Amino acid sequence: TARTASGGDAHAALEALRAEASGCQRCPLWQPATQTVFGEGPADARLLFIGEQPGDQEDLAGRPFVGPAGQLFDRALAEAGVDRARAYVSNAVKHFKFEPRGKRRIHAKPNGGEIEACRWWIEQERAIIRPTVTVALGATAAQSLLGRAVTISRIRGQPMALADGSEGWVTVHPSFLLRLPDEDRRVEEYARFVADLRRIGERVT
Ligand code: URA
Repeated sequence: TARTASGGDAHAALEALRAEASGCQRCPLWQPATQTVFGEGPADARLLFIGEQPGDQEDLAGRPFVGPAGQLFDRALAEAGVDRARAYVSNAVKHFKFEPRGKRRIHAKPNGGEIEACRWWIEQERAIIRPTVTVALGATAAQSLLGRAVTISRIRGQPMALADGSEGWVTVHPSFLLRLPDEDRRVEEYARFVADLRRIGERVT
């Protein structure tokens, strides 16, 4: 695809940042993880999504949101009419944090120090891409984006002014939907998630 001069520069800057992040040791999470899972998508994306951290499958593949949460995210985006290929998708924390349990690796929540250490990367990604809209998926992403712990239910589904003047949104994380035990509640929350994504998509079309 044709790129403007600045778009080409952004692409090169993003690739340089990705290469640098592959050796990141800013916090101890790099050691047991397979690899850094950097963000993915066009350098001129108008929409940027932030997840929590790579899961087991993302850690092995080296790509964000390719496992069960990613598949649900893909389905919700498609239903909301948002093209994932035109968005940039990244995570607040770029190494998989887990507890070994037998042969399995169980997801562990990143702590405040790990979120803070990794915040440098997502801020660089946002500074290069300069998206019109940044979306935090869940509490970890919201904490990284806003610099403070927030309650998702209180601030979801409404535009917020970010420090750089661009627009921020917060919604739930797709894994939250996967964990809901009640079928009716799951259907209801999934519909709310799709509705949030649809409204967000309208901001960049
Ligand atoms: N959950 C996330 O937050 N990010 C991923 O990349 C995968 C699952």
